[in-house]
Amino acid sequence: MKIKTISAIMAIVILTSIQTMAQKTLAKATKGKFLFGVAVNMQQVNGVNPVETELITKEFSAIVGENCMKPQPIHPKEDQYKWDDADKLVAFGEKNKLAVTGHCLLWHSQIGRWMFVDADGKDVSPEVLKERMRQHISTVVGHYKGRVRGWDVVNEAFEDNGSYRNSKFYQILGKDFIKYAFQYAHEADPNAELYYNDYNVENPTKCDAIVEMVKELKAAGCRIDAVGSQAHMHMKTPTLEATETSFKKLKDAGVHILITEWDISILPSPYEGANISANFKYSKEMDPYREGVPDSIQQKWNKRVLDLFGLFLKYNDVVDRVTIWGLTDNTTWLNNFPVRGRKDYPMLFDRNNKRKPVVDEMIKLANNCKTKKKLSNNK
Ligand code: XIL
Repeated sequence: MKIKTISAIMAIVILTSIQTMAQKTLAKATKGKFLFGVAVNMQQVNGVNPVETELITKEFSAIVGENCMKPQPIHPKEDQYKWDDADKLVAFGEKNKLAVTGHCLLWHSQIGRWMFVDADGKDVSPEVLKERMRQHISTVVGHYKGRVRGWDVVNEAFEDNGSYRNSKFYQILGKDFIKYAFQYAHEADPNAELYYNDYNVENPTKCDAIVEMVKELKAAGCRIDAVGSQAHMHMKTPTLEATETSFKKLKDAGVHILITEWDISILPSPYEGANISANFKYSKEMDPYREGVPDSIQQKWNKRVLDLFGLFLKYNDVVDRVTIWGLTDNTTWLNNFPVRGRKDYPMLFDRNNKRKPVVDEMIKLANNCKTKKKLSNNK
């Protein structure tokens, strides 16, 4: 009896000390497994709402600019670069010891039309486009050389059916524009990691096309460290199985995985892609939670977060970073996409900048998960 009591007391003491050792923020709990990042807007970088800024510096280990490094904002005209915002972002990251990644060098959206046309408005030749791409990439990557950990070199080059998106880059240069972009980025900063980034990577056909592209890039001698899966998700899609299958395929192709823009919309959606030009008409049925989310739905959302986060942890041998696309339900882009003016709840922090209870569960999962040895991505 005595021995039993003593062992019970000892067990309690050990459990309590393990709990006090357990980390209290996602950044700390995921340390050694992957970076835990957040996309930030300029108000947050500028400290307009100090509470938000403090959350970013306390809860995360990485940041990415939600808009400031995209082609249009940073290079609005051929002879004009605007560095102010992106410079502040990088300085903010350095000051707060947050890893900074660059999003994104080439994309069909948020890019000046000047890139593709001559003075008469006609499409430029392949040679002129290549030279403009080289100028853009080497100037931007060169400007932040040694300070940005890695770049989304090309964003969204595929359609969901696995064919190449018929972007201006593709029309003028064919699929080789991707190879050139990776070459120019590597020349500008040989130490920077280089990524390909897209949405609906869990779609099997699209995933296969991306894997094929990765193989071609490697065969051509290009550096590619990881594929970024944007992971703009919904309550039912993509399934956990489809997500895991995509991880397996990418891992087999010898690239690492980044979850680059994670959010889980709680609202019904007329569209499951993330092409930012999509825009659907507002209706009340599509905006059911203006007064709050019913508990039963909230529980389902929480489960979805934990199932997916558990999967990211399971693959921490190849998942290098998990970044959420925005900080709070107030600032998420999903309040206006793909329908304007709705009230969505896709983030880990609520409209009062409070951490949602599910975050404690995520921290527990991360604390209980073993750090795996990172697999090489030079396969
Ligand atoms: C979004 C931003 O969140 C919005 O503020 C902006 O108006 C449009 O772009 N895929 C991407 C991101 O790669 O850059 C997009 O970000 C969301 C979809």
